[in-house]
Amino acid sequence: MNYRHSFHAGNFADLVKHALVLWLLKERQARSGALGPVAVLDTHAGAGLYDLSGDGVRSREAEAGVARLMTAEARPPLIETLAVEVAALNPQGGVRFYPGSPVLTARALRAEDSYRGFELNPPVEALLREALAPWPNATGQAGDGYEGAVRAARGLKAPLVLIDPPFERPDDYVRSAETAAAVLRADPTACVAIWTPLKDLETFDGFIRRLEQAGLSRVLVAEARLRPLNNPMKMNGCAMTVVNAPSGAEAAAAEICGWTVQALGDAGGRAEVWRAG
Ligand SMILES: C[S@@+](CC[C@H](N)C(=O)[O-])C[C@H]1O[C@@H](n2cnc3c(N)ncnc32)[C@H](O)[C@@H]1O
Repeated sequence: MNYRHSFHAGNFADLVKHALVLWLLKERQARSGALGPVAVLDTHAGAGLYDLSGDGVRSREAEAGVARLMTAEARPPLIETLAVEVAALNPQGGVRFYPGSPVLTARALRAEDSYRGFELNPPVEALLREALAPWPNATGQAGDGYEGAVRAARGLKAPLVLIDPPFERPDDYVRSAETAAAVLRADPTACVAIWTPLKDLETFDGFIRRLEQAGLSRVLVAEARLRPLNNPMKMNGCAMTVVNAPSGAEAAAAEICGWTVQALGDAGGRAEVWRAG
């Protein structure tokens, strides 16, 4: 297992993912009168919190992402929400620390809510547990997150599930789609958000076809293309695909992807939010 998210933490793709996860969490909390407390399942949790100066120099990805987020002049509300979270972790100013999905989520939980993140890599899992120590209702767990999330979803009501694989393995697309389908079968009121890179169009289209073939409905696709998708060797953009997307998700995703492309993209960049399935 080679993937180290610390090299990528705080890049544009993290900003898109984390701003939308924060919105989904707050939206679900607003419906807890009808649905009960919020349970978040994170199939690929990572280390939880990243010290961007860890390797001596902040990565170019973080420079082009969160560093620009924090100095941007005009931030729309959902981008501002993420910036406020980053600022809270850096009380001395600057951007040394960046939250992964576990810490970002844990900080937003109410006492009755819960978070469970799965991590396969033992040293990373140890960091995850350490990062989550201040929050008793947020736990890190060793093991395969695809299987773990499906098992855990069976005992929960309307969980919010984040699927965020490294896409190092060729079966990550298939397993993400199968996991989303299995979670929705276990609980049709679940909401599943899947992060994917955008390199070339065929890979992504194949993934969306797979979700459609699984019969998943209310699928919202939020794309932030920083540049044209003509180089399959490069992450030219990213997408968050939300299955069983709540109302309001379209506008939220448009705000987040629109800002990301306009503030961080090239002239050929484009934000697109559309419905599949
Ligand atoms: C993209 S990072 C996760 C980032 C995190 N979700 C965030 O937003 O901060 C992917 C992580 O998944 C872990 N991983 C890879 N395969 C896994 C699997 N099958 N189950 C659980 N974790 C896995 C890797 O070790 C890596 O730490």
